[in-house]
Amino acid sequence: MSLKENNVLIFFCNGQKITDDNVDPNLTLLSYLRLKLRLTGSKLGCGEGGCGACTVMISSYDRLTKKITHISANACLTPICQVHMMAVTTVEGIGSIKDGLHPVQERIAKAHGSQCGFCTPGIVMSMYTLLRNNHQPTMTDIEDTFQGNLCRCTGYRPILEGYRTFTKDYQNDALDEYKSQANCCQIRDDVNNGNHVRSSKDEGLNGRQCYQVNCCQMQDDLKNREEHCVNSQSNGNKCCMISNGKRQISTKLFQPSEFMEYDPTQEKIFPPELILMLEKEEPKLVKFERNGLTWIRPVNLLQLSAVRNNFPNSKLVSGNTEIGVDVKLKKMQYPVLVSVSHVTELNNIYLCETGVSIGASVTLSRIEDFLKENMDKLPDFQCKSFAAIVDMLHWFAGQQIRNVAGIGGNIITGSPISDLNPILMAAGCTLDFADTKGVHRSLPIAEQFYTGYRKNAMKANETLISINIPYTKKTEHFKAFKQAHRRDDDIAIVNAAFRVDLHDEVVHDSSMAFGGMAPTTKMAKQTMNKIIGRHWDKSLLDDVIVSLANEMTLAPGAPGGMTEYRQSLVLSFFFKFYLSINQETCNKNIPKVSPSDTSATFPFKRDEVKSTQMFQEIANDQSPIDPVGRPLVHLSAYQQATGEAVYVDDIVAFQNELYMAVVLSKKALAKIKYVDATSALSMRGVHAFIDHKDVPGSNLIGEIEQDEELFATDKVTCVGQYIGAIVADNQEIAQRAARMVRVEYQDLEPILSIKDAIAKESYFKPIYRLEKGNVTNGFESSDKMIEGEMRIGEQEHFYLETQSCIAVPKQEEDFMEVFSATQDLQLAQTTIANVLGVKYHKVNIRTKRLGGGFGGKETRSCNLSAALAVAARRVGRPLRCMLDRDEDMASTGTRHAFLGRYKVGFSNDGKIQSLKICLYSNSGNALDLSASVMECALFHLQNAYHLPNVDAYGYCCKTNIPSNTAFRGFGRPQAFLIMENLMSEISFSCGMTKNMIRELNFLQVGQSTYYNQKIDEVHLLKRCWDECLEKSDYEVRQSKVAEFNRLHRWKKRGLSIIPLLYGVGFTEVFMNKGAAFVIIYQDGSVLLSHGGVEMGQGLYTKMIQVASRTLKIPSDQIFTDETSTNKVPNTSPTAGSVSSDLNGMAVKIACEKLYKRLEPYRKQKPDKTWSDWVAASYMDRVSLFATGFYKTPLTGFDWNTKTGEPFHYFTSGAAVSEVEIDCLTGDHVVLRTDIVMDVGDSINPAIDIGQIEGGFIQGYGLFTLEEHRWSPSGQLLTKGPGFYKIPSFTDIPVEFNVSLLDGVPHTKVVCSSKAIGEPPLFLAGSVFFAIKEAILASRKDCGIESSFRLDSPATAERIRMACSDTFTEKFPPSVPGTFTPFFIRS
Ligand SMILES: Cc1cc2nc3c(=O)[nH]c(=O)nc-3n(C[C@H](O)[C@H](O)[C@H](O)COP(=O)(O)OP(=O)(O)OC[C@H]3O[C@@H](n4cnc5c(N)ncnc54)[C@H](O)[C@@H]3O)c2cc1C
Ligand code: FES
Ligand code: FES
Repeated sequence: MSLKENNVLIFFCNGQKITDDNVDPNLTLLSYLRLKLRLTGSKLGCGEGGCGACTVMISSYDRLTKKITHISANACLTPICQVHMMAVTTVEGIGSIKDGLHPVQERIAKAHGSQCGFCTPGIVMSMYTLLRNNHQPTMTDIEDTFQGNLCRCTGYRPILEGYRTFTKDYQNDALDEYKSQANCCQIRDDVNNGNHVRSSKDEGLNGRQCYQVNCCQMQDDLKNREEHCVNSQSNGNKCCMISNGKRQISTKLFQPSEFMEYDPTQEKIFPPELILMLEKEEPKLVKFERNGLTWIRPVNLLQLSAVRNNFPNSKLVSGNTEIGVDVKLKKMQYPVLVSVSHVTELNNIYLCETGVSIGASVTLSRIEDFLKENMDKLPDFQCKSFAAIVDMLHWFAGQQIRNVAGIGGNIITGSPISDLNPILMAAGCTLDFADTKGVHRSLPIAEQFYTGYRKNAMKANETLISINIPYTKKTEHFKAFKQAHRRDDDIAIVNAAFRVDLHDEVVHDSSMAFGGMAPTTKMAKQTMNKIIGRHWDKSLLDDVIVSLANEMTLAPGAPGGMTEYRQSLVLSFFFKFYLSINQETCNKNIPKVSPSDTSATFPFKRDEVKSTQMFQEIANDQSPIDPVGRPLVHLSAYQQATGEAVYVDDIVAFQNELYMAVVLSKKALAKIKYVDATSALSMRGVHAFIDHKDVPGSNLIGEIEQDEELFATDKVTCVGQYIGAIVADNQEIAQRAARMVRVEYQDLEPILSIKDAIAKESYFKPIYRLEKGNVTNGFESSDKMIEGEMRIGEQEHFYLETQSCIAVPKQEEDFMEVFSATQDLQLAQTTIANVLGVKYHKVNIRTKRLGGGFGGKETRSCNLSAALAVAARRVGRPLRCMLDRDEDMASTGTRHAFLGRYKVGFSNDGKIQSLKICLYSNSGNALDLSASVMECALFHLQNAYHLPNVDAYGYCCKTNIPSNTAFRGFGRPQAFLIMENLMSEISFSCGMTKNMIRELNFLQVGQSTYYNQKIDEVHLLKRCWDECLEKSDYEVRQSKVAEFNRLHRWKKRGLSIIPLLYGVGFTEVFMNKGAAFVIIYQDGSVLLSHGGVEMGQGLYTKMIQVASRTLKIPSDQIFTDETSTNKVPNTSPTAGSVSSDLNGMAVKIACEKLYKRLEPYRKQKPDKTWSDWVAASYMDRVSLFATGFYKTPLTGFDWNTKTGEPFHYFTSGAAVSEVEIDCLTGDHVVLRTDIVMDVGDSINPAIDIGQIEGGFIQGYGLFTLEEHRWSPSGQLLTKGPGFYKIPSFTDIPVEFNVSLLDGVPHTKVVCSSKAIGEPPLFLAGSVFFAIKEAILASRKDCGIESSFRLDSPATAERIRMACSDTFTEKFPPSVPGTFTPFFIRS
């Protein structure tokens, strides 16, 4: 062993041997792949193991067992040195467009499981690794494998459906289905461009031939075919094409029969050379040292001791999942890291006489496998704590983390919310340590082991060797519990483990350990002692509840917040434990559990996800090359699935390129006393510090009002505001230097919340007001009145690709080219030109695609691109910046939080007479788009209802949080939720069903909105509503829900339907325009450019479909390269769901011009082809390019006169959701959702349904899960996936059905379609109100009949505390103002 020399790093990547004799141990595997190997398929979504975008497969070979192991891992947390002598497979290594896709890549693409595609490579690699280990997984295996992957676009359903085809069950089912229809022409394999296209009887059209003599498709023409079908149906035969003369309804968005077969034998093998190398010699200690970091990996205890003696201040590292996050987020520095992952003695796991011994480096996945395997062999009674561990590990992080994280890392970290520590403590485990001299000692992992927050009794020179978990005794009972914000991959709010040793029915011994109730895992010692010798009966339960309430206390404002909830959870968990023991014990002296009470202990029943998607197929006579109306696959889906799709940060570095890191304000409101960048500038590799003094043009930016400073001058107005920026050789240096910039502040008192702003009357002008009728008279004529308020929290965009940009100053004439991940190229162009002080034509913005936008990259992307442009101009070199996730979340704003204060008057039968309402939005420190958001909110207050008298105000609150901005729905979801809440309140007050109240108040045909816009679509709203009720079997299920609630005390169900009437269009009239530029080249190929940005919503695909239909050429003749301001100028942002409408019309207009120009050639030689006509026209000097421009015929709304129509048309829909809640914890599951949506004639049903599902799940996050928390001084506490939870795979409804309304072509828009991107988001409100119903049922059981306030999101905390019962009553809310809260809501 030599600690002097450095080793050469050797690993294999995608079969290629990589050797590096000067590796930088600071690099993660992800940085190495992306920067050094130029493999940019693996993405950086968070850098903290929370999103899975960086997932790769790591394979290793064990020379003793000769076994090859494949694991999925987060490349962002894997130190590059850790993969020494291993094989890494990235998304590029399994398939490519050139060499052929892997089935895993093909299926996610063809099943429409990739929208923006940023998450796709990670999801592909998780699935790939699963298949490498298990060729025929179950759906449960698939769901488990995705616990560590997030997608913000798709709503997950299509991914699961696509991958379901790998399961054995599916393959059996598919075979059965195939056999039953074997002769049907419609299931034959022929495809057109990856899609199912109906054929005629002969092979001419698509090559599909029918062999069924009686098939309708054998008839000569359409009329005959339809008649044939109708006749065949009246004869009792079922025809797959039948739809009573109408266009057929399809339920197939993709054809699994088109998928290439998965053949596991064809997988790439583990590199033989690596096996040889590993076989050749014993594993050795390795050491890598560079850039101030030494990384050493010993392979046995002796070496480990020697290394530690040599480096007494070294830090041990195992899976690096804790340390990696500390380094990334807390900027911790460890000069010497010693990896214990390969130390043999720390990798043993075995059963012994007393229990199981687990080496400290054994990964959580291995523990899970080992325990599961042995629990099958051992008597059940011995394995009760093992079972608790296995159960808990399921909820511990995601698989990528569990595959590398060691149990020792968890214990030594000593997090107060560690999921394992309560179990290990309650089970009475011991820990074995060895010091560097070889002295061993054993300690119980009892409460005293932890000496403080993340501190423990391990000595500095000790290493944790192993953990011994004893078997449980026959008389012992053991259970563990965890409650988190989100079920999958989330840290606990509170967790607990209970052990009780019952001799007959008397308590002989017990342990109760809790996480999340103190700075360390805490045992309830007093309570444990009190119950010794007590009978296990109801009086013990009552006493324990009182005792725990007194012992496990939290002071108001305790770290973590939610104190009443956390204390309630402690009692709830014990209550569950008590009942479960009673259930599993046969002792007649132990109280029996009533059937109703069993609901406290059974877990949610989450069956395999099932779904249907129903849409109208194209007409039988539609040309086979006309792609409109077909579920065409997203045109970039294959590139996205193979990692070939290029996002901004994937662009190859320019020569001379530098990196920029931003210096962000740490104060919410403060004067800047001085900024000192001296130390930063003295660092090697640092080129410049940039601030407001470097801005050559105007330092003021903003879309509507230029009220925001690009770089703060003398005052900061929110945490996260740009103060300056550092330009350096690379990201690492730039970020380190940025942290060294000293800013001295003079604190001022910030306004953070809406309530603060109201108290201080801090508003942006103008204050909006919309009136109708006379509210005073309306109230006088009302029988009843309700006054109240409701709050809806903000929502983080959480696009998987953070804000990113590259600015390239050109050598001549001050020209600047900017590659920006922006939804608004024009705004980026004008903002950059203004800050640079140049004319707009000197700036070109280029955008290929975004890894999600959702409104967050509309205006807020300009701060970064403008700062970058200023810095690039100053240093005269290309500059790049991609914000880290925490920087992005801290600086870019969110959806606005809203507060609605209302007074509503209504008749006894529930008809609304009068509404007075004030909407307040938290707009943040700059106006941005807040005024337009408020306008939209006011316009949509009424949703689907007739409001005779209204007086509505809108206040945009000026506060000291980052400026809030556009987000899918643009103020509408908040307003809709408040209105639907009123419906719910009114129904409660009138004692009528919610549906009756809603239907009674529905707008009727001919009625207008309260701002006097006539609505032509009211009948469609009613159709959506009725069809949704029918398809969801609402009435029957409502009775079943009532019955369920009658039988179950601690689980309740709720069912709710809500309508949606959504006005489409920008409220600023001038923005309702689209432009396109179409070029036909000599070979007939077409280059299509337009003003819209592709961000996953399938815009490029739809536009090509429109162009293909108009030019009457196949879609593969048309290509869209990118969007740029020098091709199509003066565009509107890609936002508001109208980009297909606007750009589609423009594309159509441009293509029509060109089609017309070719008409003479077509007429002359009709038998020739498109290319011939193009060639002939070229020779004739015909212009083969054309522009198209479209403006929506719209008057707009004049706020001065309060007249005019703000929207072009309305989209409607309805959704029914059913939920089940756990009244004791506040957890919930969505059992089923049915959506019916009007999208006109869908241009692409796969894309539209994808938008509906994705929007719905994003809305589900908004209304139930996602929540920002701020420190009282204005720091965002929820700055990453670790704390801010978006929905994950298993949050989607267990049954998820979407139907598009059929037969409703919409004449106002291109191809008779309607906007779809934003409207469906609000339909997730159905979940919110179903939860409210379920809570009502729970309160009723407690005798509480009154209505109650439920703010959004309906988090587990809110649900639990609203289900008031004897447990929650023990913790009345602390009086605001009497303590400093740990966090506040904005
Ligand atoms: C995305 C994500 C999700 C997570 N989810 C959860 C969760 O649900 N529940 C939960 O409890 N935790 C969770 N964690 C925390 C973390 O994963 C666990 O604590 C994990 O077990 C740490 O193990 P590791 O091997 O990666 O530790 P490392 O990061 O390698 O080390 C952690 C600490 O342990 C020390 N250490 C490691 N081995 C030894 C040893 N043998 N002797 C002495 N000291 C040692 C290190 O010096 C360091 O201080 C999560 C982390 C991430 C990033
Ligand atoms: S980037 Fe690695 S998990 Fe998010
Ligand atoms: S497709 Fe999954 S994040 Fe966009």
